[in-house]
Amino acid sequence: MTQDELKQAVADAALAYLKPKLENDTVLGIGTGSTANCFIDALAAIKGQIGATVASSEASAERLKQHGIPVYDLNTVDGVDFYVDGADESNRSLQLIKGGGAALTREKIVTAVAREFICIADESKLVHTLGDFPLPVEVVPMARSYVARELVKLGGDPVYREGVVTDNGNVILDVHDFAIPQPLATEQKINNITGVVTNGLFALKPADVLLLGTAGGVQTLYAE
Ligand code: 5RP
Repeated sequence: MTQDELKQAVADAALAYLKPKLENDTVLGIGTGSTANCFIDALAAIKGQIGATVASSEASAERLKQHGIPVYDLNTVDGVDFYVDGADESNRSLQLIKGGGAALTREKIVTAVAREFICIADESKLVHTLGDFPLPVEVVPMARSYVARELVKLGGDPVYREGVVTDNGNVILDVHDFAIPQPLATEQKINNITGVVTNGLFALKPADVLLLGTAGGVQTLYAE
């Protein structure tokens, strides 16, 4: 199977996982990226069976609206029942690196609110130790150089993602050559750097379930 077919398979699996749990007032959080896009397109077929969605990016909100799926401001809903999103990497504890699509801050906010986070990814995303994928860090523009120096002190090699402005008006530093054997501690350390808005480690609140697309079918993984 191609990577695109694996993404479609996990998107379909997420829909199948959710279907028995959906009620007409269910609020679904919707992620960002190519795998989340597959899920949005699949969701269109059952849009009458959910209450509303909240989106983790302007791009996903736009795609949902194009399908006629209602999108609400997070501040106007009481909660988010399920959040479905992709990842750039996951370890077996379902701690993630996210933010390849620069949507990490809103993704982390929706994750924080959601009752259950269902991560969907193809098998290339499952790793032993996080950090082969450069860790995205969203930064207030004026703090970019300062934050970069602090990230160097932590052992990484931050690279400014040229030409990218997030939905929140900020910039992204991608931290290369940065193995992350202790994701919880690293997430907290980077959060503590002044000027950092969000880092792409999802360890303090990892995924609850990972639907992983493999050549042999979709596997359902829970944190080890
Ligand atoms: C966007 C993200 C995405 O979930 C992540 O980049 C995975 O994307 P894709 O499904 O296209 O591989 O975190 O900010």
